[in-house]
Amino acid sequence: MTAARSSLEAHGVPVPVARDTASLRRSVADWRAAGLRVGLVPTMGALHAGHLSLVKLALDQADRVVASIFVNPTQFGPTEDFAAYPRTEAEDAAKLAAAGCHLLYAPDAATMYPAGFATAVTVEGVSRGLCGDHRPGHFQGVATVVTKLLLQALPDVAVFGEKDYQQLQVIRRLVTDLDMPVAVVGGPTVREADGLALSSRNAYLTAAERAVAPALYRVMTGIAEALTLGHSPAPLLDEGIRRLLAAGFAEVEYLELRDADTLMPLDAWSIDRPGRLLAAARLGRTRLIDNVPVPVHAGAG
Ligand code: PAJ
Repeated sequence: MTAARSSLEAHGVPVPVARDTASLRRSVADWRAAGLRVGLVPTMGALHAGHLSLVKLALDQADRVVASIFVNPTQFGPTEDFAAYPRTEAEDAAKLAAAGCHLLYAPDAATMYPAGFATAVTVEGVSRGLCGDHRPGHFQGVATVVTKLLLQALPDVAVFGEKDYQQLQVIRRLVTDLDMPVAVVGGPTVREADGLALSSRNAYLTAAERAVAPALYRVMTGIAEALTLGHSPAPLLDEGIRRLLAAGFAEVEYLELRDADTLMPLDAWSIDRPGRLLAAARLGRTRLIDNVPVPVHAGAG
């Protein structure tokens, strides 16, 4: 028996699927007419416990939860993994049903980007630096598709993971700047027992790479602890990069301390503001990202 079937049988009902915007809107309009609060969890599928934690968070905040699955071509660069990205809709649908999700919105590319599509949403500021420098056009693709998903579903609340911390800040910015009537909620990163952040891309790791991967979180939490004790960032970040390379990472794209809200560089480490340590590093052909909070340190203020 497949995992999908056993899960469906355990829960009796498969999650209904909307393939076009009109049927999505009909469901949402019916719920709203009944006075129900609606939550949206956008994803690209290949669902894992991190995604499902966001569905659970949405269920805490709303009466009805829509999850979307759309592998968005405009946020992948020409040499990136759009074609290889895992597509597992039947398993995903079973997981969503088991998690209590009420509707799966799974549009195709022609629904999202019909012939003649000519609009892009650009968020300045927070999209710069970090992943923005290493994945040109990525955040414009994310901002455009998230704007569309929010306008298609018109949810009361939308939930995104802190795992993609810069993405979360980009989305907060665009929702504020475009006066969208939706509350954006961030969910904490779900990790494996050894600290590796769950990611659909972890499936690309070989066994040897998987053994190296937790070094990213380990090194980052070590740096965050030292920063919180008041140590200055630059030598810690240099040492962190050396450690990641020594552990087996092929390249560290960035390892940076930023302001937790604005993502502006946080060099003068004496100020009374929460920080965020963010990194992207390559392990073989796989690109891993992670981030950890850096609380205001004891000597600040
Ligand atoms: P995707 O990578 O599928 O992630 C969907 C949501 O799950 C994002 O909000 C992401 O931050 C969150 N997520 C991923 N791994 C997580 C983890 N280990 N713990 C908690 N949350 C996690 O992010 C995207 O898709 C796309 O860019 C999208 C926003 C859907 C736009 O296309």
